[in-house]
Amino acid sequence: MKKIGIFASGTGTNFEALADSDEIKSLAHIEVMVCDKPGAKVIKKAEKRNIETFVFSPKDYENKNAYEKEILEKVKDLDYIFLAGYMRILSGNFLENFPGKVINIHPSLLPKYKGIESIKRAYENHEEYIGVTIHYVNEEIDGGEILTQDKFRVDYEMDLDQVEAEVHEIEHKLYVKTAAEILKGEK
Ligand code: GRF
Repeated sequence: MKKIGIFASGTGTNFEALADSDEIKSLAHIEVMVCDKPGAKVIKKAEKRNIETFVFSPKDYENKNAYEKEILEKVKDLDYIFLAGYMRILSGNFLENFPGKVINIHPSLLPKYKGIESIKRAYENHEEYIGVTIHYVNEEIDGGEILTQDKFRVDYEMDLDQVEAEVHEIEHKLYVKTAAEILKGEK
């Protein structure tokens, strides 16, 4: 059984997809859900599943180094860390503890549309395809080597909300599939 952590800041639908997958459950135990936003919906989702949480507010710390030191205490023995809508950049100091062990999901076909509002920007640019990327994390926003991608051809009869819903559906499936492959040592 591998030991994993999930970092999230928001609604937590990707967290749920990973936490509720039977395949992931057979391969790994979620030791902790780390969240930088007290009050985020993902916290209740973790509590409901009896998953330990570490919730902090960056403004209560002197600097990034100080809160990352506390996070590190909680996660130092983990095999993998999956970021699922964690809206903060991890420092090089933190990441050097986990070479090739920190993975992120981003709702665009990277390297295009890094950063926020990626789906909206891709939609407004009338991209023929919109998709999702799972990649290793480095210090660059949405940088790092790409592991997997999936995409669909956009029907511009669909409004932005519908396109976003489709992207999220793809995210949940792709994250579970890719995480399972990683945990099995296939990636
Ligand atoms: C997802 O679109 C993820 O790709 C992005 O942030 C969003 C998080 O959504 N990094 P949720 O909290 O998992 O519902």
